[in-house]
Amino acid sequence: MEIRDLNLWYDETHALKGVNFDLYRSEILAFIGPSGCGKSTALKCLNRMHDDTRGVRIEGTIVMDDSDIYSARIDPPLHRRRFGWVAQKPNPFPSSIWENVAYGPRIHGLVRSRAEMKTHVEDCLRRAHLWDEVKDDLHKKNGTDLSGGQQQRLCIARALSTQPDVLLMDEPTGSIDPVATAKIEELLLSLRRDHSIVVVTHSMMEARRIADRVAYFHLGELLELGPTERLFTAAQNEKARAFILGKFG
Ligand SMILES: Nc1ncnc2c1ncn2[C@@H]1O[C@H](COP(=O)(O)OP(=O)(O)OP(=O)(O)O)[C@@H](O)[C@H]1O
Ligand SMILES: [Mg+2]
Repeated sequence: MEIRDLNLWYDETHALKGVNFDLYRSEILAFIGPSGCGKSTALKCLNRMHDDTRGVRIEGTIVMDDSDIYSARIDPPLHRRRFGWVAQKPNPFPSSIWENVAYGPRIHGLVRSRAEMKTHVEDCLRRAHLWDEVKDDLHKKNGTDLSGGQQQRLCIARALSTQPDVLLMDEPTGSIDPVATAKIEELLLSLRRDHSIVVVTHSMMEARRIADRVAYFHLGELLELGPTERLFTAAQNEKARAFILGKFG
């Protein structure tokens, strides 16, 4: 994806100011920066999540596979299906583990038979590193009965179930404990092979462990973007350097 000169206003609030970046295949790109600097706002532009929000105005271009995603030729629901979304707080449906993963593929007609669905659900749960822990409870337990970390991996399985190209994750480890966080991080690294992943994180250590590249946002501007190690050891921008050193945030 190519994001060029992206500006976004919430009514009078200028929340994104001339943001430029590319998102490559099979990479993990981390968004870091202080609270309120536009990380979530930028993430939501990629899958047109702002479409239904009153008062939002967007300028600039976002190109995905040679098409402008805001052009009239793009069907927003089809566009959105190319993305999986994972929120900070795990939000499984209050239904069985099976149903959490089977729902999306069923309503979008992605599988043709019960047998195919069975294989697909298992595959998604395996890819989310959750299968072994839930395989005997698929119909017995609700998604909401799982631990926080398991719920988040179920939400990732659900995000994978509609076969997205890109995963958008807004602080996916922000509300779970360190052991569960380590599992999610390992999972993200394994998903990178087949997906582009954009992850917002408040943990510098997490960004350093998992990201290929890091983007530093500040008051709506993307001030610096580069390979992870370069950003953490030799950021060019003074504010990025200070933030990484923990001088503000
Ligand atoms: N729905 C909205 N309506 C009006 N203003 C909003 C809305 N969502 C965000 N904003 C404003 O846009 C700016 C950027 O917010 P955003 O949520 O993108 O920041 P963030 O970097 O994700 O912060 P955090 O790290 O706290 O999640 C902030 O000034 C915020 O108050
Ligand atoms: Mg946010």
